Amino acid sequence: MATYDLVVIGTGPGGYVCAVRASQLGMKVAVVEKNATLGGTCLNVGCMPSKALLHASEMFEEAGHSFAKMGVSIPSPKLDLPAMMNFKQQGIDGNVKGVEFLMKKNKIDVLKGTGKILGSGKVEVSADGKSQVVDAKSIVIATGSDIARLKGIEIDEKRIVSSTGALSLEKVPGKLLIVGAGVIGLELGSVWHRLGAEVVVVEFLDRILPGMDGEIAKQFQRILEKQGFAFKLGAKVTAVDTAGKTLKATIEPAAGGAAETLEADVVLVCIGRVPYTDALGLKEAGVALDPRGRVQIDPHFATSLKGVYAIGDVVAGPMLAHKAEDEGVAVAEIIAGQAGHVNYDVIPGVVYTTPEVSCVGKTEEELKQAGTAYTVGKFPFTANGRSKVNQTTDGFVKILADAKTDRVLGVHIIGREAGEMIHEACVLMEFGGSAEDLARTCHAHPTRSEAIKEAALAVGKRAIHM
Ligand code: FAD
Ligand code: NAI
Repeated sequence: MATYDLVVIGTGPGGYVCAVRASQLGMKVAVVEKNATLGGTCLNVGCMPSKALLHASEMFEEAGHSFAKMGVSIPSPKLDLPAMMNFKQQGIDGNVKGVEFLMKKNKIDVLKGTGKILGSGKVEVSADGKSQVVDAKSIVIATGSDIARLKGIEIDEKRIVSSTGALSLEKVPGKLLIVGAGVIGLELGSVWHRLGAEVVVVEFLDRILPGMDGEIAKQFQRILEKQGFAFKLGAKVTAVDTAGKTLKATIEPAAGGAAETLEADVVLVCIGRVPYTDALGLKEAGVALDPRGRVQIDPHFATSLKGVYAIGDVVAGPMLAHKAEDEGVAVAEIIAGQAGHVNYDVIPGVVYTTPEVSCVGKTEEELKQAGTAYTVGKFPFTANGRSKVNQTTDGFVKILADAKTDRVLGVHIIGREAGEMIHEACVLMEFGGSAEDLARTCHAHPTRSEAIKEAALAVGKRAIHM
């Protein structure tokens, strides 16, 4: 029987990063993966394929709509969807191979099969009707999440799809109905809208992107509407009739009232994700779940069973790849006797649309609810020189600082490259920095990042270019 210091179940960004860090710390490590390829949701059907399609579809859109005004005259671009899907697949393959390389480089054994915890220190790995049991001093559960389903609406991944099917449609739908105005709905909605689909988004709440700053979400909705998105807020899809050639979705107001029917070629259900714990044998082994079905952990990622830890989408917190990665590093360090730690106050969030939306820290709504006195500094990209010359002026930067101490509590950006720009705010917040610190930091000119400096100046009511 093989014996390891650590066995990690799942090779998504949480699991494989945890394995690498543990190996760096001198542990003998194995990962268990039931999928044919390593990398989890993120690399295979999540972050990476969606970003490949977002990039390719953005180029298509730019070539068709933005080149001419810059004096680049080309014939109207034609979509070759199979080639675009091939571009996506090449990106997936490259990243998956990268994880395989990292496993080899760090001498991590890859055990292909479904992992089941038999008790403290014992993992059974089953594949093709055969199974083996491995011994492990410590076990990390990193089995991630799965799509949430709508009662009575069956996902066939052809006409009624989850994000997985929406990443591989064989043709551009004439009409795409999206259930849920969260991150997946707006990102994948953008992909298919740019490629020619008519997009309607039905959202249960009275706003898009719940959890993000309300003012940012409102402006983002306006921008998306200008691009051609249609939103039905405060509404829910209760049934989809698949009998005819066109799907017929029943939409009801969330607060009750008369239903309406909307026709669509494809319905994308993206109403969140749920923790994935199937086949792990948690109940029998004595690993407790919380009321929402997530693996329950203490502040050091330890579950109720000695020597068993859990990280990533399968535990509480934002379902984000970088959160899973950071937890992977932290738990490996804790198992090695070090002080691994994740600062949950500084986890950025990005929506990779055009423009992008990014955020870190508290929203205005959260500060109001907590009764924290705060000051706001805002700066629009219409007043940023680089954005003006590039003619990409949608959006603004918003900084929220403590009214007494000036410490930055939250930064929210809507605009091109917002996902790259947010990280100077993350570093500042990790060091407990103030708006004044940001305002006095020299920023290169001309960059979009100057809008962050200006927003920081605006906290003290002294923005220069506004
Ligand atoms: P996962 O990546 O879900 O990996 C879990 C792995 O465990 C899987 O490979 C699974 O096969 C394996 N597994 C499960 N059970 C067993 C078992 N019993 N035995 C063996 N193996 C098992 N996040 C971002 O931060 N940025 C993005 O841009 C982004 N885009 C996304 C786009 C889409 C369409 C989706 C669906 C998600 C996106 N996410 C994004 C979320 C991100 O993918 C997840 O937060 C992240 O993958 C979670 O990592 P994880 O390691 O916890 O689990
Ligand atoms: P989400 O939680 O972001 O959004 C789901 C939306 O559906 C919410 O607005 C919710 O109010 C709405 N909703 C729920 N039930 C509904 C119903 N019955 N009818 C209509 N609307 C309903 O979830 P999403 O978009 O599925 O994404 C899942 C996870 O994947 C998220 O937690 C996100 O963090 C992660 N992800 C991250 C990305 C990124 O970081 N760029 C990209 C894509 C996904």
